[in-house]
Amino acid sequence: MEKIVINGGKPLNGEIEIGGMKNGALPIIFASILVTNGVSVLENLPAVKDIDLSLEIIESLGAKVERIDRHTARIDATSVKVAEPPASLVRKMRASYYLLGAELGRFGEAVVQYPGGCDFGGRPIDRHIKGFETLGATVTETFSESGKCVRAVTEDGVVGANIFFDDVSVGATINVMLAAATAKGLTIIENAAREPHIVDLANFLNTCGAKVMGAGTPTIKITGVDKNELHGCTYTVVPDMIEAGTYMVAAAATGGKVLIKNVIPKHLEATSTKLAEMGVKIVENDDSVEVSVPSELTATNIKTLPYPGIPTDMQPQFCVLMCVAQGVSKLIEGVFDNRFQYVDQLRNMGASIEVNGRVATISGGSPLYGASVNASDLRAGAAMVIAGLAAQGKTEIENINYINRGYEDIVEKLLAVGADISLVNIED
Ligand code: EPZ
Repeated sequence: MEKIVINGGKPLNGEIEIGGMKNGALPIIFASILVTNGVSVLENLPAVKDIDLSLEIIESLGAKVERIDRHTARIDATSVKVAEPPASLVRKMRASYYLLGAELGRFGEAVVQYPGGCDFGGRPIDRHIKGFETLGATVTETFSESGKCVRAVTEDGVVGANIFFDDVSVGATINVMLAAATAKGLTIIENAAREPHIVDLANFLNTCGAKVMGAGTPTIKITGVDKNELHGCTYTVVPDMIEAGTYMVAAAATGGKVLIKNVIPKHLEATSTKLAEMGVKIVENDDSVEVSVPSELTATNIKTLPYPGIPTDMQPQFCVLMCVAQGVSKLIEGVFDNRFQYVDQLRNMGASIEVNGRVATISGGSPLYGASVNASDLRAGAAMVIAGLAAQGKTEIENINYINRGYEDIVEKLLAVGADISLVNIED
């Protein structure tokens, strides 16, 4: 086991290259099992734990996966069969539930254990189930030796239908897209999620021969194609807007100047706008953004929302920046019930944060001090790294397996921009 050790207080300076979007690559990996005619070559996969797990899951179902290099995988899904994947893999991540949509689309039936993932309070899957039922599946909860499973069965394959989501769900939108790509007839998803990874999945499916229109808007129309029509392709995953946003905030929190390379600035608009409101200077180029801090950072208010709002996956990082900025900020979590579990760790570093339900009030401007903290989930872990970089003294972060699930080479990338950061072995 390892921990991250940071001696804080040094401004970051230099360039950071952003990798492929984890939350875009994951559904595309599961979508590749819909491809029965040829192989999928996926490029710009981030080298993070969740990608390894997803590839292992589809391998366990019979896919032939060849890792061409650290960021490229070749997937031949011809021999995939419907089977319960190993619970030990499924329960380690949220995205494993994309198997439900993908298997349902390919075989008309699916069975998967309940997924794992970060703990933000209850994370029900009722919208996914409603989507599958609307597409003609009978969905039941079953129990096997490996625990609670979801089973979805159709009589003769998935049938297109109109689906209206009462509230936006990234995962349910993706699962319905996966199930509907080879359905009989037209599926219309209303109040669909609009995240860039929804568009990325649609682009992958369409490159393989699917007919998905409107991704990136609240209405997605999917005309089902014959299963044999989905052919292999080479596809490059888009850059990770959350990884980019995390380093933008890190640069700002340390008063540094960093060029964040290989990004799509449009995807970063909400984050860039809020940073600018706090006094950060953002210069947008075609595929990079430069972040610098010409003057003192000031407080702001943020409510996280589905895209194009401020991503909930940037909430803990912004919380740290609000601790550093002068004045009182309000941070409202608009997506999950319980995503402030990490604030005690920041309090241990000297932060003044009051939490009332989904609202955090942050009195910023006092220094943060190094402490021993934990990564309680993926983005909270990233926030601890930022806090450690901004703090005076030494911060030690344990439980970093969470951080490794979503950030490729975080220590190396920060070292390259001047951070005093290292990975240290700890005795079990
Ligand atoms: C995805 O989770 C991401 N995970 C999360 O990324 C991200 O925080 C989230 O979208 C929101 O952007 C992956 O892409 C693997 P949702 P997901 O369905 O799909 C409720 C990260 O750090 N809901 O949009 O699970 C739910 O409880 C992570 O990379 C239901 O009530 O999110 C939440 O309050 C963590 N019923 C809200 O909707 C459902 O059936 C939005 O969840 C589904 C969701």
